[in-house]
Amino acid sequence: MTKRQIPRWSDFGPLLKPAPKEGTRRQRSMARAASIGDLRRRAKGRTPRAVFDYVDGAADDEVSLARSRNLFRDLEFRPNVLRDVSTADTSTTILGRPAAYPFGFAPTGYTRMMHHEGEVAVARVAERIGIPYALSTVGTTTPEGVAQAAPGGDRWFQLYVWRDREFSYSLMQRAKDSGFRTLVLTVDLPVGGARLRDVRNGMTVPPSITAKTVLDGAMHPNWWFNFLTTEPLSFASLSSLGGNVADSIDRLFDPALDFADLVWLREQWSGPIVVKGVQSVEDARRVVDLGADGVVLSNHGGRQLDRSPIPLLLIQPIVEKIGMDAEVFVDGGVMNGGDIVAAVALGAGAAFVGRAYLYGLMAGGEDGVQRTADILSADVTRTMKLLGVSSLDELNPDHIRLP
Ligand SMILES: Cc1cc2nc3c(=O)[nH]c(=O)nc-3n(C[C@H](O)[C@H](O)[C@H](O)COP(=O)(O)O)c2cc1C
Repeated sequence: MTKRQIPRWSDFGPLLKPAPKEGTRRQRSMARAASIGDLRRRAKGRTPRAVFDYVDGAADDEVSLARSRNLFRDLEFRPNVLRDVSTADTSTTILGRPAAYPFGFAPTGYTRMMHHEGEVAVARVAERIGIPYALSTVGTTTPEGVAQAAPGGDRWFQLYVWRDREFSYSLMQRAKDSGFRTLVLTVDLPVGGARLRDVRNGMTVPPSITAKTVLDGAMHPNWWFNFLTTEPLSFASLSSLGGNVADSIDRLFDPALDFADLVWLREQWSGPIVVKGVQSVEDARRVVDLGADGVVLSNHGGRQLDRSPIPLLLIQPIVEKIGMDAEVFVDGGVMNGGDIVAAVALGAGAAFVGRAYLYGLMAGGEDGVQRTADILSADVTRTMKLLGVSSLDELNPDHIRLP
């Protein structure tokens, strides 16, 4: 029988510990988010519905996004035991430049709409932890602004090719003059995908003030206050974009983009070129033959062609075909640093994350993006150690069993 006693006041003393007071209130609040899923839940509470859904949603029935996330969830890790993992070196080289971790922040448009700290916050975190960040063509901070915010960062510029080639050229030139090193040519957006949540929400960029948004404003007053009292959303591109996103894409970006354009870009851009949105072995071979230094195997996070190939499954056949000639990156569905380790084990040089950092941004601005980076980087280190590897080169496909 358990012997019980009546607690005395002095027994409570050693148990009473005030909550640690390090950092600002927002940083302390972010530190309580234990996973990207936690950040997503907070993001949802803090952002107008249409904006959250623009980030969280994908095309049509959102099958591609679900498949990517499910595959990460369902794969099996195969650890080796009794290996010395007192340290784990997470560093790597991405297109010739050292990176502290095998992941980067993918380009995302309209980032200042998610949170007023926008691209500057994302670029600063990427610089601080030592990973690449790609600014989108439809970013809401200029290349000059991002360069000023993160002068030492590995800055990439993502290009959508405009019907007006001169305009594309001038954007590239601005990025080059601001010290952006790598050009990312996105090729999976000949037309806009069918983002049904946006249609249902009547989503426009910038968000329009309607009876519905006024009501929403009452529920997210901080977002609206920050949105209305900071610099209006603008960038060179946004002067002609605006309104319904899918219509703007169709009006401005060139569906006639083809391999000849890649040849042209290769002549214009002296740094590395990465083609993003490659989804077949043949296309990967062809773009590398035309001068691409890397490919991102991507279906745009499921936002374009629904039911397209799961990028993770393309890694092995494509690395086999072009791995000696170019670097192979992957994105789509990463919600955990273990996902990044799995992608590297299957042969990717790095994985890129989109929504994961946007959830952090919407949840808590720069501190939220930092929290995303901290969660992912700690996951990478821990997963490596639990797998029994102390450096990224030791990872190989035998560490993964795909379902
Ligand atoms: C809100 C949002 C905006 C995006 N905007 C762009 C963009 O402007 N250019 C681009 O190449 N990809 C864009 N993407 C796709 C991402 O670069 C990346 O391929 C995708 O987010 C990866 O999937 P994940 O979000 O599951 O990590 C966007 C993605 C999201 C979620």
